[in-house]
Amino acid sequence: MNYKQKQFGGINSFSNLDGKTGLASVPDNFVDLVLTDPPYGIADSTKLTKTKGQIGSTQEAGGNDFQDSWDSVEDYYEWIKPFIAEFVRVMKDNGSLILFLDRKYTGLIIRNLEKHFDLNFKNKIYFKKKNPVPSIRKNNYRSTIEEAVWFTKSKQCTFNFGAQGDMLQFYEGSIGRKKTKHPTEKYGWMIEPLIKNHTRPGQVVLDTFAGSATTLVVAKKHGCDVIGFEKEARFYEIARARMEEEQMDLAFHAPANESAIVAELDFLMNVELAAITSSAANLSNLNLA
Ligand SMILES: C[S@@+](CC[C@H](N)C(=O)[O-])C[C@H]1O[C@@H](n2cnc3c(N)ncnc32)[C@H](O)[C@@H]1O
Repeated sequence: MNYKQKQFGGINSFSNLDGKTGLASVPDNFVDLVLTDPPYGIADSTKLTKTKGQIGSTQEAGGNDFQDSWDSVEDYYEWIKPFIAEFVRVMKDNGSLILFLDRKYTGLIIRNLEKHFDLNFKNKIYFKKKNPVPSIRKNNYRSTIEEAVWFTKSKQCTFNFGAQGDMLQFYEGSIGRKKTKHPTEKYGWMIEPLIKNHTRPGQVVLDTFAGSATTLVVAKKHGCDVIGFEKEARFYEIARARMEEEQMDLAFHAPANESAIVAELDFLMNVELAAITSSAANLSNLNLA
């Protein structure tokens, strides 16, 4: 069995796993684009959203077990830091990382990612909702913008600069009917330009916080290979149903328990060890010849 055929974390697989566990199975220098939308403290009883035509708090929309809030941006950074370290490890040297973040967090996260990791900040990308949810309380501006931040490891990276008019750091679209019942499903118009601009067909896209799998679906349609993880079983099922309906050629994994995961990681380690031992043996044979 090689990496492509393995149980979870393989090319064109989607797994019901914590992203950190899943990432451990992804080889170094393997991924062209990490495009992910981590939870960012939106499960708040005071922030409103629209689900199934009803306006309610983002906390209600997500459900009580939708762990999605941190006391401070520093706490949030401590939580996300190990994921970033893994993203940097699995990214190819000419790969990109695009993270959706809460607007309150982008400044500190950009500063820390440049300071603590081998990453260069390239830009912020904005997404404007043409028809945002009305302000009920009328005590602040209506929220219309979402933000993503783009980092690279080196000066070389895949970037398909199209027509000048298409390459503004700003995309606009409508909010409305979503494809699934996931409370924070991204609209296709937010993800499509990112995949189009930052990948070529055949490249590998990773989403460790897949949710309803918008990124994976768009990337597959663009001809990319994908690796996805989603930790909540109910969201994993929503995403799996969506991808099956789209007839996507993906392997789905829901490892039954911790010991299955540990056994898989042990297996992978043995495969790698065997490969290292065999190339060392080949080298010494060459030297003897
Ligand atoms: C903001 S949502 C992503 C929505 C997604 N972009 C979409 O279009 O549906 C974040 C997702 O990350 C999942 N999640 C949170 N922590 C995770 C972890 N440690 N590993 C994997 N998934 C996680 C949540 O359950 C949630 O579905």
